[in-house]
Amino acid sequence: MEEFKQAQRAIWSAGDYSTLSEYIAEVGELVIDRAGVEPGMRVLDVACGTGNAAIPAARAGGLVTGLDLVPELLDGGRRKAAATGLEIDWVEGDAEELPFEEGAFDRVVSTFGHMFAPRHQRAAEEMARVCGKGGVIATCAWTPEGTVGDLFRASAAYAPPPPDFASPPILWGTEDHVRDMFGATASAFEFERHVVTIAAESTEDFLDFFIERFGPLVTARSMLGERFSELREQILAIWERANEADDGSLRLPQEYLLSVIRL
Ligand SMILES: C[S@@+](CC[C@H](N)C(=O)[O-])C[C@H]1O[C@@H](n2cnc3c(N)ncnc32)[C@H](O)[C@@H]1O
Repeated sequence: MEEFKQAQRAIWSAGDYSTLSEYIAEVGELVIDRAGVEPGMRVLDVACGTGNAAIPAARAGGLVTGLDLVPELLDGGRRKAAATGLEIDWVEGDAEELPFEEGAFDRVVSTFGHMFAPRHQRAAEEMARVCGKGGVIATCAWTPEGTVGDLFRASAAYAPPPPDFASPPILWGTEDHVRDMFGATASAFEFERHVVTIAAESTEDFLDFFIERFGPLVTARSMLGERFSELREQILAIWERANEADDGSLRLPQEYLLSVIRL
């Protein structure tokens, strides 16, 4: 297990996630709205990266903690929060073993972060434990039908097989899976599908920019050597198929599932 976590740390600290996270910043705003964060509430952002949800939660008046496996990303979040004068506690830790007391938070959120903890049931139990009765968990995960689902499937064909204990992250983008994971503790579920659209001058330009910065692809490139060009072609084809622009630019819709789990 520790080997897997070390590999995850290496993957997510590679590249420049902080810059890429700006392209999906609106998701953090939406999840904080749907979680119903109000001034004075204790809020945990699980697998916070550079704070896409933690920062709007603090802006809404929450007493916010951001937790992530990767210290370099927490540093990025610290810098962003300091630039806006917001106070957030940044904690290095694992979504499967949250270092907090039962019921320590009123709201627990995660945008595209909890989905990468390999043991989904364990992550769900931990989020529910630290949130406690009466609290709300709100999560966002890419859907299997969306363009990120396609990208994950293409990339998986070039990656070593995952260990037995790891479930596919994309499962979190289905309502059934969310119900299964939280069924024992939830009193109600609400689901919404949304799209966050990436706009760029061209598909090729954005792909090259993305390959330099997205940790999983930075890692795949160094592992695959020359074979990486095949994967690059496949991603290009996925994005060109999904592109909604007809003027040579890129408008790439990326669908995600927003889940609100009331405890
Ligand atoms: C795609 S990024 C999402 C970051 C951020 N929530 C956002 O919306 O920009 C995935 C994040 O999950 C974190 N992560 C992966 N596995 C984790 C785990 N087991 N515990 C905590 N964080 C984890 C990574 O370090 C990375 O910051």
